[in-house]
Parts: sequence; structure tokens; C-alpha cells
Amino acid sequence: MRKTYREKKSPEYWNSRWNQIPVDAPAEGHNRYPLLYANMVVPGCDGEVLELGCGPGRLLRYYHAKGTRIVGVDNVAAVITKLQACDPQLRVIHADACRLPFESGRFTTVLCFGVYHSLEDQDDVAVAISETFRVLRPGGRLCAEFRSDSLHNRMIDYYKGHGKHATEFHKWNYRRQEGRAMLRQAGFLIESEYAALNMPLLYHVPFLRHPSQRRSGEHSARISGYRLRAWLQALHSVGLRFLPGVLANEYVFVCRKPGEIAQAL
Ligand SMILES: C[S@@+](CC[C@H](N)C(=O)[O-])C[C@H]1O[C@@H](n2cnc3c(N)ncnc32)[C@H](O)[C@@H]1O
Repeated sequence: MRKTYREKKSPEYWNSRWNQIPVDAPAEGHNRYPLLYANMVVPGCDGEVLELGCGPGRLLRYYHAKGTRIVGVDNVAAVITKLQACDPQLRVIHADACRLPFESGRFTTVLCFGVYHSLEDQDDVAVAISETFRVLRPGGRLCAEFRSDSLHNRMIDYYKGHGKHATEFHKWNYRRQEGRAMLRQAGFLIESEYAALNMPLLYHVPFLRHPSQRRSGEHSARISGYRLRAWLQALHSVGLRFLPGVLANEYVFVCRKPGEIAQAL
């Protein structure tokens, strides 16, 4: 695994980032990260869903609008306050992924995008994954993402850290087998896994963005997914298929907690 350094430590970074933007509109990018992957586990699940590290709520608001019983957790208080102010019907809680304030076995499904790799201490990463396992019902499913240790992410880190005082822990980057091993160590069975693109390095060049996003800010692109020009997007997709370890921004795992969900009588 490899550490990415930036100018601010991870909690400080998320705190200032989420303080600068309003809450998200519900996600729209059905064929893009993260909605594409969340939709592999949420539709059809018959219990409560937990989103760990919900941030400004693009997934939380999407599923809430669809009538899914979903709870969002984040350790940045400001983003939780903003979500509550925007829609008092949203169920959101200020809490840490390492100490979840829920009873064991409460949730049918957990979504976790961008959280585990934000924890600097590897023991905390293991604790957070175990906490996720604990709050899931037997037979429940987790969709979890880790930032990948790919050439693409190394280039992004070089671009973002170059010439700056990038000395503070920002996030971990894992090889695919490292992500797998951490989930298995906690007891999860991995059902499927994916190399994914979130924000390509080329997105930083406005000319190479999809025309619909050329003038939009990063915040609005979060909603529909970061999109490049169609031909570049197609090249990335082919590259991702054949060279996932080079191009992936993220590895996404769909996992199950062993056991059967008890059937209601
Ligand atoms: C990359 S953002 C992803 C936000 C959201 N899941 C999404 O996809 O839009 C990671 C989020 O995890 C939250 N986070 C980081 N460490 C956390 C922790 N220990 N407990 C709870 N949330 C945490 C951050 O505050 C941030 O909102």
C-alpha cells in the first residue's frame, strides 16, 4: 500500500471541502461511479441501508427520494448539519466509522465509498471494516471502495502534490489483493470486484471534458459523474478493461456477510 500526501490531513481536508459547498443534488450518473456500483446492492434489498461517509449526500439523497430506508453517517459535523437543514426527513448521524452507534446486525446493506482509505492508522482501517461487518445482518451486503495504487493515481498525486508542501497524510492507495485481503480478514465473502474510474487525470483539462461539463464546477460533476469527451471515455473504458492496475482510480468490492437473513414469519 502507498500513502498519498497533500497539504492538509484527511479530516481537515474533508472538513474544509464540505464547508465550501452546498449539499449534493441526488446522484444522476447511473452508468458511472459511484451510483453504478451502489445500484448493484441497494435496489431490492428489504431492510435498512447504511451509507458510511455520506459526505454531502449524492447517494443518500438519491436513495431517500426513491423511498429506500437509508441512514447516512459522516464524521464531519458540518455536512451532517447541512443535510439536516436541507431536508429534515433525511436520517443522518455524526459518527465515526470506527465506532458506529448501531446495534449489531441492524442493516441489510452498507455502502462505503471513500472512507476506509481515509483512515491513517491501518489498525483503524481494520476496526472500521470490522464495525461494518458487525452492523450488517447475516447475509447482508457491503459495497466498498478503496483508492487503487495504480499508475493513474500516482500521476494524479504527482500533479496535485508537485510544487506544494504535500507532507500530510491524505489517503491510502491499495493494490487489489490488499483490498480483498482486508475484507476477507474481517469475515466478508467477496462476490464480485471491479476496477473503476472516478475522476480521470484528464478531467483537469477543461477541453477534454464532456461538452456538458466543460463549464461546470467539480461540485456539479459529482452528481452525474466526471465525464470526458466520448472518444476519450471510450478509450478509458477499453484501457480499464485490459490494464486495470494501470488505469483504475478505485477498486470496488461487492461482499456478503456469511449467513442467511432470517425470514419474517
Ligand atoms: C470521498 S468522500 C465520499 C463521500 C460520499 N460517500 C460520496 O461518494 O459522495 C469520503 C467521506 O468519508 C468521510 N469520512 C472520512 N473518514 C471518516 C470516518 N472515520 N468516519 C466517518 N466518515 C468518514 C469524509 O468526511 C467524507 O465525507
